[in-house]
Amino acid sequence: MLEINECNKCDELVSNRTRISHGWGNVPAAFMFIGEAPGTGGADITGKAFTSRHSGEIFKRIINKSEIIDFYVTNIVKCRPRDNRKPTLAEILNCSYIINEELKEVKPKITVCLGKTAFNYIINKYSTFDYANSFRHCLYISKTAPKILASIHPSIIDEDQLKQLVDTLKNIKNEI
Ligand code: URA
Repeated sequence: MLEINECNKCDELVSNRTRISHGWGNVPAAFMFIGEAPGTGGADITGKAFTSRHSGEIFKRIINKSEIIDFYVTNIVKCRPRDNRKPTLAEILNCSYIINEELKEVKPKITVCLGKTAFNYIINKYSTFDYANSFRHCLYISKTAPKILASIHPSIIDEDQLKQLVDTLKNIKNEI
């Protein structure tokens, strides 16, 4: 797996990050969870996606409740943007060589897009249909390869939405 520890493409991200974060989990894997970018105090410090006390704990609950073992988790952008702002398109494109390599190696059957940043990137990469404005929680696109599931980002998901996501993941798991 491509583990980049040296990259200076984005001036502001380079000056703000503690370290470059990496994806982790099975390679290959049936499910690939994709977030936005490392959060303060979590992936930015540990170097591993979704390991913060908030988003990381929610992610763990999603995985445990849906009983998914065969997964890989990563972010679209690997360095923390200042004040947890959204990464810019230029930063997403600069960083895309890493997520593209991860997708090639992980070969997921399903990509679970945690938030709109991941959804927009994955939709543009895999779908010929323009889904740009169709993001909604638990939207499942089964016509693409890999299949795409959209979710609200763990940092803002509520309990009902979490249950809905877990139920959807369980159904998809039984289908693959
Ligand atoms: N932590 C991550 O690793 N990714 C996010 O998108 C948010 C928090």
